[in-house]
Amino acid sequence: EQAGAEPGELAGRHVLITAGGTREPLDPVRYLGNKSSGKQGVALAEAALAAGAQVTLIHAPLDVAPPATARLQPIETALELRAATLAAAATADVIIMAAAVADFRPATISTGKIKKRDHGEDPVITLVRNPDILVELVAHRSAQNQQQLIVGFAAETGDDEADARTYAQAKLRRKGCDLLVVNEVGPGESGSERVFGQDNNHVEILSLDGSSPVQSAGSKRQVADVVVHLIAQKLGKNSQ
Ligand code: CTP
Ligand code: CA
Repeated sequence: EQAGAEPGELAGRHVLITAGGTREPLDPVRYLGNKSSGKQGVALAEAALAAGAQVTLIHAPLDVAPPATARLQPIETALELRAATLAAAATADVIIMAAAVADFRPATISTGKIKKRDHGEDPVITLVRNPDILVELVAHRSAQNQQQLIVGFAAETGDDEADARTYAQAKLRRKGCDLLVVNEVGPGESGSERVFGQDNNHVEILSLDGSSPVQSAGSKRQVADVVVHLIAQKLGKNSQ
């Protein structure tokens, strides 16, 4: 277990956080979404503010109220999230991609409401891939600000071939971000949901620089404080 944030440790820093699950429209009243509540992203915004940072929160629809002292920028789709995030990234010292970004979006958006009578047979939805915002942020960093610290999130499940941690290590390398906050998703032992929409979280934070993984469990705010403290430590090392 790791210590939480200290007041002022992010003073003078601009922290960009994305939160919530994107919504990919099918027509004016329907969308493809996911189970993200945005609670962990909002907790990170609160923790970063408490640590003295200036916070920009780019967020999909949230189940909880975001902090009023953050600069709030609501979005819905992955493409909107991408545009807002790449723009705000230019001035960010830290970027935390806590948003659950849809990997795919419907290839076409119907301008009118899709009607049953237009589909004699069962309709098929064609999906196209969304850009990987985290990978783009890492690619742009070198041009803008070498010191910029980029944090990804990953919801992993293990399977017959490998466990969740192995997949997470591979994802960290593939994405090239500095830190990857990993939680294992899926049904808990009781068959109940373990992460999405819950108030508690259990994560392992992996570092690209090879330092040992940091575990954190507790409320989403407690987990956020640990992530923020680790970020402050890494920033401190980078600027020495
Ligand atoms: N992410 C992103 N853009 C996407 C998809 C994901 O920026 N189009 C970010 C998420 O915000 C998160 C990280 O990438 O910080 C990992 O997301 P995850 O869904 O675990 O990774 P994927 O590369 O989409 O892999 P998977 O096939 O496991 O979903
Ligand atoms: Ca994904």
